[in-house]
Amino acid sequence: MNILVLGSGGREHTFAWKIAQSNRCKSLFVAPGNSGTEAIATNLNIGVTDFEAIKSAVLEHQIDIVIVGPEDPLVQGIHDFFLQDDAIKNVAVIGPQQAAAELEGSKEFAKEFMIRHNIPTAAYESFTIENVEDGYKFLETLQPPYVLKADGLAAGKGVLILNDLDEAKAELKSMLVDAKFGDASTKVVIEEFLDGIELSCFVLTDGKDYKILPTAKDYKRIGEGDTGLNTGGMGAVSPVPFATKEFLDKIENQVVKPTVDGLKKDNLPYVGFIFIGLIKVGDDPKVIEYNVRMGDPETEVVLPRLKTDLVEVFEAMANQTLSEVDIVIDERAATTVMLVSGGYPEAYEKGKEITGVDNITDSIVFHAGAISKEGKTVTSGGRVMAITSYGNTYNEAIKKSYQSIEKLHFDKMYYRKDIGFDL
Ligand code: AMP
Ligand code: GLY
Repeated sequence: MNILVLGSGGREHTFAWKIAQSNRCKSLFVAPGNSGTEAIATNLNIGVTDFEAIKSAVLEHQIDIVIVGPEDPLVQGIHDFFLQDDAIKNVAVIGPQQAAAELEGSKEFAKEFMIRHNIPTAAYESFTIENVEDGYKFLETLQPPYVLKADGLAAGKGVLILNDLDEAKAELKSMLVDAKFGDASTKVVIEEFLDGIELSCFVLTDGKDYKILPTAKDYKRIGEGDTGLNTGGMGAVSPVPFATKEFLDKIENQVVKPTVDGLKKDNLPYVGFIFIGLIKVGDDPKVIEYNVRMGDPETEVVLPRLKTDLVEVFEAMANQTLSEVDIVIDERAATTVMLVSGGYPEAYEKGKEITGVDNITDSIVFHAGAISKEGKTVTSGGRVMAITSYGNTYNEAIKKSYQSIEKLHFDKMYYRKDIGFDL
């Protein structure tokens, strides 16, 4: 098999790391990749939404499977692009077709899907500029905090949670009338605030059957104690200790099964990962969002716990034989801590040399915003590297990650020192 992974983050390095362990993989390419993927695969200098260039690369390198890391190409229809082109229509694409990718591409679409299929979620209404006044009135009927969500993709920034009614109205106006998130906020979903603890569930589907991967929890805020601005994710743990067997059964029966059945009933073609963001309210799971890809940095703790050959899994997904695959999970816990550029998620500097990576022996270093330049590894993004460790308990694993981080350095490096603090 020749395999192409699309993306350049820690998630894609983790995919590449896992795929490279399979003897079913002959040649591995990553586009555009980073310094981590460059060490184990061939990086191709192609953007993830440049479909024509991706097609050329697929033909040139005789790619059999394309793994789509981020959501953008999926929401823009990369899978459909492949199916509509005779030259590449037989190449397997791991990631849903555009109609199904709307589960992440439109919050309203996702909410309607959940309501239609009886999947537990927060009550909601959606508004546009035409009925912004109704939006204000709806806010008045709710108790704070108020949850406002831009309908479209807003690079993870489109959800606002506000304590004050006037502030909520002002933000609603800013989203609908002043296009705060551009086109993404021409429609806004206002929903009931769910009070509980968050976790994520990852599902593989071939459109017929599904397999559930280990749960994970990520830490989204920049500051310790879950304070400050939202980020792409500052660290993660797997499994989630409070996800008992009983609770996992509820997730499977109340959320996963109706989701996969719902995709079939609605004729939404789906071969790929479903990332379900959940909140445990009392003893019950409620869905806060769907993503049509794996999470980052959740991938950095979920895939290292997968013992099954990932290429075998992808082949089965493409061939609709997923039900025959045995998903074997490492009993150990895995944790990851994300190292970020000082200033992130606001302005930060790039091009800082990263040293000490080779001294790390007890953890796995997944590169994210890092590239090779003139023989050195330098920072190229906000989230720079994820340091993953195993342990018999997550405490043991997290301790190892922090010990490894001491060996690594770049100017203005920052990380949260409290990953797992709430468990
Ligand atoms: P999302 O982009 O949908 O993942 O939302 C970002 C974050 O906002 C989530 O990870 C939750 O922490 C929070 N959130 C979203 N919806 C709700 C809700 N209905 N109630 C409470 N928190 C929420
Ligand atoms: N870590 C959250 C995400 O990937 O969306």
